Amino acid sequence: MEKKNIDWENLGFGYIETEKRYVSNFKDGAWDEGMLTAEANVVMSECACVLQYAQTIFEGMKAYTTEKGQIVIFRPDLNAKRMADSAKRLEMPVFPEERFVDAVVKVVEANKAYVPPYGSGATLYLRPFMFGSNAVIGVKPADEYQFRVFATPVGPYFKGGVKPLTICVSDFDRAAPHGTGNIKAGLNYAMSLHAIVTAHKNGYDENMYLDAATRTKVEETGGANFLFVTKDGKVVTPKSDSILPSITRRSLMAVAKDYLGLEVEEREVYFDEIKDFAECGLCGTAAVISPVGKIVDHGKEICLPSGMNQMGEITKKLYDTLTGIQMGRIEAPDGWIKVVEA
Ligand code: PLP
Ligand code: COI
Repeated sequence: MEKKNIDWENLGFGYIETEKRYVSNFKDGAWDEGMLTAEANVVMSECACVLQYAQTIFEGMKAYTTEKGQIVIFRPDLNAKRMADSAKRLEMPVFPEERFVDAVVKVVEANKAYVPPYGSGATLYLRPFMFGSNAVIGVKPADEYQFRVFATPVGPYFKGGVKPLTICVSDFDRAAPHGTGNIKAGLNYAMSLHAIVTAHKNGYDENMYLDAATRTKVEETGGANFLFVTKDGKVVTPKSDSILPSITRRSLMAVAKDYLGLEVEEREVYFDEIKDFAECGLCGTAAVISPVGKIVDHGKEICLPSGMNQMGEITKKLYDTLTGIQMGRIEAPDGWIKVVEA
């Protein structure tokens, strides 16, 4: 199969329309059988629940070309489960988990020419999403929904690849206690747009959100969870009911423990502790692990000992092991890799 003529090495994190996407509609209490389509546009009522009341959820995952030339997807079953949790929280019907994985596989198969080659640094980003599509004017859930999956080839989320980031403590809160911070709903990202534009205007790469109730604990960024490394080599990640349960973070904690033999801890992390950590990274599907070199709190700088030139030593080991597993250079734990093409 001939690959598309794309400058894979220089791709940013942007949308490129690919050939096929998957669509299934929910009506009269049931999902239809679903199909692949070339139609990238969506037509719906001006009063659709998604347009009026933001009833939409999504997922993000990647397909990779391995060292041996296979096309694989990383832990799609966990994305399927998380999307089911998101759906329940927003009173949407669950798209069955096996059908979710099957739909994602179909989209990758149909867009093989867009799966970036091994070693290019790019991957095929997959975006499953679902929205309330029929007209709703009183505040209530829709009765009709559309589930879709599209694919787009992407490069690194942060410009400059693995250069350490400078982030700032946000004055805005991302998620309320008992709110929707733990699901992947579009509304969480809509509220972050002003905060990220403000951060960028002020010269920062990302925001660090604190817990809304006390503003003393570290939550996450707009699109990734935090990992910290202590000076004695322990990997620590914030525990909170209002952050997204990152699949990358969960995988990295397993990698740290089982592959690197490190001590790991998921616990509340106070902002005041950050000055004592040796390394910090942002982890997520898009971010992979992006090292943080500096955290700025209203002009007060906290510089991580790992510095502004390279990834911290343990962050780098985590990065190499996780990407090694994803690209087939290192044996994966059972069930982590879904092979699309043998
Ligand atoms: N936190 C937020 C707010 C995100 O949007 C993402 C991205 O999906 C993550 C964390 C990382 O999650 P995952 O590793 O499952 O991609
Ligand atoms: C992902 O990592 O898949 C996300 O959805 C994060 C988003 C900010 C691109």
